[in-house]
Amino acid sequence: MAKPAILVSRAVFAEVIDRLTACCAVDYHDADAPLPPDQLAARLAGKQGALSFLTDRIDAAVLAGAPCLKAVCNVAVGYNNFDLPALTQAGVMATNTPRVLDETTADTAWALILATARRVVGADRWVRAGQWQGWKFHDDWLGADVHHATLGILGMGRIGRAVARRATGFSMRVIYHNRTRLDPDLEAGATWVDMTDLLRKADFLVLMVPYSPATHHLIGAAELAAMKPTAHLINVARGGVVDDAALIEALHLCRIAGAGLDVFENEPALDPRFCALDKVVLTPHIGSSTRATRLAMAMLAADNLIAALSGQRPPNLLNPEVLKEKIS
Ligand code: DGY
Repeated sequence: MAKPAILVSRAVFAEVIDRLTACCAVDYHDADAPLPPDQLAARLAGKQGALSFLTDRIDAAVLAGAPCLKAVCNVAVGYNNFDLPALTQAGVMATNTPRVLDETTADTAWALILATARRVVGADRWVRAGQWQGWKFHDDWLGADVHHATLGILGMGRIGRAVARRATGFSMRVIYHNRTRLDPDLEAGATWVDMTDLLRKADFLVLMVPYSPATHHLIGAAELAAMKPTAHLINVARGGVVDDAALIEALHLCRIAGAGLDVFENEPALDPRFCALDKVVLTPHIGSSTRATRLAMAMLAADNLIAALSGQRPPNLLNPEVLKEKIS
């Protein structure tokens, strides 16, 4: 029997390609840049499956040109690059990679909490530039204490809870907001508060909500104005959850003290005004970026794809309705 034809839309680890090649005919876009939308559509035509990345927009137009497609498997937990209803409508299984990146992404949130609070990146640049004239009591780098501060988490899913667990070692008080309160055993000492209290009380506000039309600009001018002037905002979720223009304005006006940002609106086109602000630490969407975690994500996506194309239910199916429709 012929192997199913699949597209791998970006460069990935050799182990992953080996795994896929064992059971699929792989069209591999072995490049670090994403395929432009027209080329993505052209290379999906005739394919039964795809290993996709968060830079690949999969929508009705793309799907219309790929009638043989059975599964699109994202190498990411977030799937806002998918038009999920369009995939479902086209009868195409969609999957993501939950769990394997939780701890690594929580580590990144903490890297940004500590780096912004203690001004690590600016201080490093200053030392390298030869500006350090000697130790001073009133030094130029007075930071904010993390220990015993209040950590606020917006979106207490698996990654949010992993961020919260790390706060114990810093003797922090943890508050969170979710639309629905967690079971007390999952809260692990964190306290549910409403959005108003979360904004008002957090010294470090970590965003962990997925991006969707419902979370677009969830943090805008009004929310930033409600925060403490000493507070720091940390975003390792998705650009677009924060209104970047409003954040820049709030930082300029000292409405909040700083921000640690791994994600931005219109990535990778960064608003240049961020670069002029020494109160922000900027990283290039590296929340899950360790070799072990990226490999685990890509292998999980490959497992999803292989399962889907061999007639099994993929472990991380996002639109099970597709299977129900096939059965009925
Ligand atoms: C995800 O998995 O959604 C991350 O943003 C990718 O690193």
